[in-house]
Amino acid sequence: MATAAPRGILGRMMLRKSVAQIQEETRTSELKRSLGPWNLVFLGIGCIIGAGIFVRTGNAAALHAGPAVLIGYAIAGVICAFAGLCYAELASTLPVSGSAYTYSYATLGEFIAWIMGALLLLEYGLAASVVAVGWSGYMVSLLGDIGINIPVALTGPTGHHLQKDGVDVLVNGAPVAFIFNLPAFLVCAALALLLVIGVSESAKFNNVIVAIKVTVLIAFILVGGFIILQNLPAYTPNWEPFIPPPTGVDGEFGWSGIIRSASIVFFAYIGFEAVSTAGQEAKNPGKDMPFGIIGSLVACTVIYILVSIVLTLVVNYKSLNVPDPVAVAVDAFGPQWGWFAKTIKVGAIIGLTSVILVLMYGQTRIFYTMARDGLLPKVFSTVHPKFRTPWINTLLVGLIVAFAAGFFDINSLGDMTSVGTLAAFAVVCLSVIWLRRTHPEIPRGYRVPLYPVVPALGILSCLWLITSVPDYVLLIFGGYTGVMIVLYFVYGMHNSKLARGEGAVAAVDAPYYPEDAPRDESGKPVIRP
Ligand code: ALA
Repeated sequence: MATAAPRGILGRMMLRKSVAQIQEETRTSELKRSLGPWNLVFLGIGCIIGAGIFVRTGNAAALHAGPAVLIGYAIAGVICAFAGLCYAELASTLPVSGSAYTYSYATLGEFIAWIMGALLLLEYGLAASVVAVGWSGYMVSLLGDIGINIPVALTGPTGHHLQKDGVDVLVNGAPVAFIFNLPAFLVCAALALLLVIGVSESAKFNNVIVAIKVTVLIAFILVGGFIILQNLPAYTPNWEPFIPPPTGVDGEFGWSGIIRSASIVFFAYIGFEAVSTAGQEAKNPGKDMPFGIIGSLVACTVIYILVSIVLTLVVNYKSLNVPDPVAVAVDAFGPQWGWFAKTIKVGAIIGLTSVILVLMYGQTRIFYTMARDGLLPKVFSTVHPKFRTPWINTLLVGLIVAFAAGFFDINSLGDMTSVGTLAAFAVVCLSVIWLRRTHPEIPRGYRVPLYPVVPALGILSCLWLITSVPDYVLLIFGGYTGVMIVLYFVYGMHNSKLARGEGAVAAVDAPYYPEDAPRDESGKPVIRP
């Protein structure tokens, strides 16, 4: 399979894995194939429903869009649907772990794959930190309810102060400074250890907590919906005006606020594509991965819209800028529902736990694949002899995620995650177009409808939403990408197995046909346009 290493920097940057090679790697993976289609849907939901709906919706409504956060959800949902369809096509064509990273390697080449690896560190690693901070908010609140008070200084991001309604809380005339978010740090460390023990055990654990999380949200929708319908006129004033007038500051209410809210609640959808990182552990990846991706995205969209309706009707949007907005809404149901508020907090904590778990899982598998390709040091692909998991990799990811969660604030982390993910989604949509144009003959278990409109809209809408995040976030994002580009030329390019011609071919070459590919009468695989 090996070919001579290509000449020239540009030639190296454009190196691509062959589809045949990717499918061969799938066969030689050391990871266990233990995940069926419903495991994948649960894996997706486990990752999707989390800090987005439980925490960031409150911030988006209170500071940016008011009740019109619903429109923000609809916009973000449509953008994710475009990307989701593209993910489903690529996942059914190239069913391997590493997800968007691998897709880029097979289509747009090694350099873009490396950049994709960097973007995915934001989408998975940093997102896990965001969720851990949300987890900490609900945990601190629940512990407070039962009389256990963690020292305030250990419950927030370094360098920030304790605030209420956007204003510093003063104790003895001085603001209360946070040192570190200890609960957020600890939950990341604990879950990393669980992942070291093994995916099968973790997937079962995940299924149980996904069920709890979904039950809690459905209960919120039903109880809240019932209370609202009992006395509708008492609640409709909370939707007047549905779109609060703009303050004059870009991104604060009015139309620009709705767009800004879309970039915030976009976070709530991240995760459906985590299903595609489990390619090497899926029992039947060609069929099950599109099912897992689309199924989990649709289920979560319905739940989000209903939860947001109840949330913004039950309480005024201005009171939602809190670490636990869903619990605040339940408090408004009335004192007799106090037990339900605590149940919601427990459910949220359990739900957020599952999200951190799946995001960290996805991150470790991306690093695993990159290390097998020589783009990261070998230690990232070292598999534990007993647990058969990439254990050193998992511990390192756990540490990175835990430190980000401990030191940084949820809004900056969340915005960085959104930007990185939107950029990654745009590249995925581009990969679909590239692969269709250059290799129309490769069998695809699933094909994007309305091609090329859907991938083209996917690219444009992702880029459009990126422009709505604050400038300082775009600046940090630019700096991060710049550092990653330098690292490619310093490390990745020289260590890439593909560049050294080790067990690899240097371009998408002769197509690979699975045994069950459709064939004509003469037995030749059918080429579909
Ligand atoms: N979509 C995930 C969440 O909302 C990342 O927590």
